[in-house]
Amino acid sequence: MHIRVQQGQITEIEASVLVVPGFDAESPRDQALDAATGGWLEEVYASGEFATRAGEFALLHRPAGMKAQRFLLAGAGSPAKFNEAEARKLAGAALRYAKSRALRDIVFVLPEQFASAAYVQAAAEGAVTADFEPDQLKTDPKKNDKVVNSFAIVAAAELASAAEIGRIIGESQNFARILVNEPANILTPLVLAARAAAMAAEVGLACEILDLAKMTELKMGALLGVAQGSDNPPALIVIRYEPAPGTATSTDHLALVGKGVTFDTGGISIKPADGMEKMKYDMGGAAAVLGAMRAIAQLKPSVRVTAFVPTVENMLSGNAQRPGDIVTTMLGKTVEVLNTDAEGRLILADALTYAIRQGATHLVDAATLTGAIAVALGHLYFGAFTNDDAFYDKLLAATKTAGERMWRLPMDDDYKDYLKNAFADMGNIGGRWGGAITAAKFLEEFVEGKPWVHLDIAGTAWHDEAKAHLAKGPTGVPVRSMVALAMGW
Ligand code: BES
Ligand code: MN
Ligand code: ZN
Repeated sequence: MHIRVQQGQITEIEASVLVVPGFDAESPRDQALDAATGGWLEEVYASGEFATRAGEFALLHRPAGMKAQRFLLAGAGSPAKFNEAEARKLAGAALRYAKSRALRDIVFVLPEQFASAAYVQAAAEGAVTADFEPDQLKTDPKKNDKVVNSFAIVAAAELASAAEIGRIIGESQNFARILVNEPANILTPLVLAARAAAMAAEVGLACEILDLAKMTELKMGALLGVAQGSDNPPALIVIRYEPAPGTATSTDHLALVGKGVTFDTGGISIKPADGMEKMKYDMGGAAAVLGAMRAIAQLKPSVRVTAFVPTVENMLSGNAQRPGDIVTTMLGKTVEVLNTDAEGRLILADALTYAIRQGATHLVDAATLTGAIAVALGHLYFGAFTNDDAFYDKLLAATKTAGERMWRLPMDDDYKDYLKNAFADMGNIGGRWGGAITAAKFLEEFVEGKPWVHLDIAGTAWHDEAKAHLAKGPTGVPVRSMVALAMGW
């Protein structure tokens, strides 16, 4: 799909569909638009058939005074509450509405007061992410009839670069979603590593894959303990972005660490069969980190960023790790594996240590780490855990710019007691209560006091229901927040 900005009188614009936000009934309406639709606009409002809520639409065929073939009024709520996040969703919902009707060339009109760079970027992101479908392995050729060719945003020519930024970020989010959606028989750890390497080559980043032998040499006992149950060998993917010489604004080195469990059976502490198929999305953190690097390579922030993605398959076999096994992490701390299903924190522990050995000064990890985070926050907010208020505030500002939702949970040291263990330095689980917090406290043991934020995306990386602006399945969070963090450094 081609994304661009376009100028000109809206009566003169050629399109299969021209989309205009339909604000609530109290908002003043555009007289010229009403005239161009032959009074349809006023009539549709007066009739009450058009709800101005997001996700509601009214479609006019062959508007008399326009060159566009269709005119689409897209519910946009109150203009006072309209913001970048609403513009993103509106553009996305309009795209999906048009696409399902085989309307291929869409022109989206941003009202003048909202036609700024941030809105144009958000609309482009919304359109690109809305275009993603999770059914790539269906073989019905008819689905190709419904393909969008172009999405244009009516805005000043100098905002073309904002649309371009939005396109890059949206496509990078979709890159992550494609990876998440791929089933685990196709996307094994080594295939994920190969996809990462191919992406890095495409955008001009250095990529290094640490293999089983290398990780054994580095004594990554926690990661290797998880990996040993699978015939698919593990990998640690490292992708490096450096600002052009002389353009770095600090000596900071941001590490993005992503949990890459390509399938989580739970291991010997096996998961119930019902819903287990969804555990292909247990590499959602890894995918988000890779998606963020794809965008960062193109948008070129002024801070050094390195991705560290540990990837394994958590399986059962004659060689799988057992409950009660004690592993020694790369950092040297010992862990009793009380539950083999708490595997994410084990692979992240060694990846965090490696990131710090590689010189990371700030760390953000993203992981589908606990069911408990979905119990706490549902499917709307991802959970955040930190050891550094200032760094957290920086990330929070980035998530707001990016239109993603994050909520902080406590990290009092008393929670660390939940991990106490008689036989090793700690257990890998903390019991029934506060499960997302104890998982975070476990990770904190490996960040060596460096500013760090852990994002638990288990509740938000996958949506079981389609939205007006987004297909069901992988969401691609928190790609946009990580990109915004690097860009705003
Ligand atoms: N990958 C799961 C967490 C998860 C659950 C992700 C649901 C997405 C949806 C993780 O590895 C896990 O199994 N966590 C356990 C931890 C428990 C054993 C302490 C959990 O949440 O049940
Ligand atoms: Mn698990
Ligand atoms: Zn898992």
